[in-house]
Amino acid sequence: MYDVHGKKYIDLIGGISVANVGHRHPKVIDAIKKQIDAYLHIMVYGEFIETPQVQYAKLLADHLPYSLNSVYFTNSGAEAVEGAMKLAKRVTNRTQIMAFNNSYHGSTQGALSIIGSEYWRSAFRPLLPGIIHHDYGSFDALDEITEQTACVMAETVQAEAGIIAPSVSWMQALRKKCTEKGALLILDEVQTGFGRTGKLWGFEHFGIIPDILILGKALGGGMPLGAFIAGKQLMDALTDNPVLGHITTFGGHPVCCAAGMAAMNVLLEEEMIESVIQKETLFKTLLVHDKIKGVRSFGLWLAVEFDSFETNKRTIDGCIQNGVLTDWFLFAPNGLRISPPLMIPDEHIEKCCGVILSAI
Ligand SMILES: Cc1ncc(COP(=O)(O)O)c(C=O)c1O
Repeated sequence: MYDVHGKKYIDLIGGISVANVGHRHPKVIDAIKKQIDAYLHIMVYGEFIETPQVQYAKLLADHLPYSLNSVYFTNSGAEAVEGAMKLAKRVTNRTQIMAFNNSYHGSTQGALSIIGSEYWRSAFRPLLPGIIHHDYGSFDALDEITEQTACVMAETVQAEAGIIAPSVSWMQALRKKCTEKGALLILDEVQTGFGRTGKLWGFEHFGIIPDILILGKALGGGMPLGAFIAGKQLMDALTDNPVLGHITTFGGHPVCCAAGMAAMNVLLEEEMIESVIQKETLFKTLLVHDKIKGVRSFGLWLAVEFDSFETNKRTIDGCIQNGVLTDWFLFAPNGLRISPPLMIPDEHIEKCCGVILSAI
């Protein structure tokens, strides 16, 4: 990236897990230009069949388990969260929602109701009723999933908490409990999707399949796009009483779908996911310093932990001065964020780690 003065930066944030295939990949730009030459907005989403929406939905479904075969595109991650919560209420005829402390799901009022921090929620009350929050990864929390629970909403790996991965056994117990009680399991993969974790989808690490999957960020290849994805038999609940259970004018905008599809094809064709774990290891090998308290990671996605926000902020400022772009996490202010484009070359990783260490 270059600033207004032409100064060069290596991007260690990737627009917060958006630019998984980098910035302005030629194939993404080409797809956008072709779509602009063809048509822009035609009609409110779903009224007419539009080729880029159908093609991208098919590509996604082809790379997901069969039970996630129906894609609803939205304008953002938050809108996908809203749609997923509405779908869960409609399917189960229940209203209670379980979510987790230190989770982030977006800033609209429904999404805000379930995010896991009272600091961010309190100024906007009253929010949605019937929301219960528990600690992520807590087995005790699972006892609170009952016949009243419409859905449990979880990030597959907590992002803004500073890359907190649950145990495989907890995820599997969560899946089992939701099935037993008839509650839907919704996994928010807005940050974990599209190879970030070393697999195409984060849930693949845990041997489970959610009832509803939420995507955003890298989904649009740099254009604004979100999606909630479920089985057709579940999604059909939004077609009846009321007939249009979720409406969006611009959801699945043809230019966004064309860009997103091109980006996903690049991700797969250029085999970018294959080197994620090797690059994660390289970062961890190089980031050793007595001021670094620890490095949590899950794929090409790392939180470098310092003793305080002040130390972290000083390091971040030093990095930016020296041409490396990074920041911290919403709920983990002492963690330095590393979530670069997945094709970052090893030389850039070595250079960035040198800059981080000298900034400390
Ligand atoms: C895990 C997660 N879910 C949902 C969202 C909301 O997405 P958007 O900002 O596109 O509304 C975000 C945004 O940062 C996120 O990180």
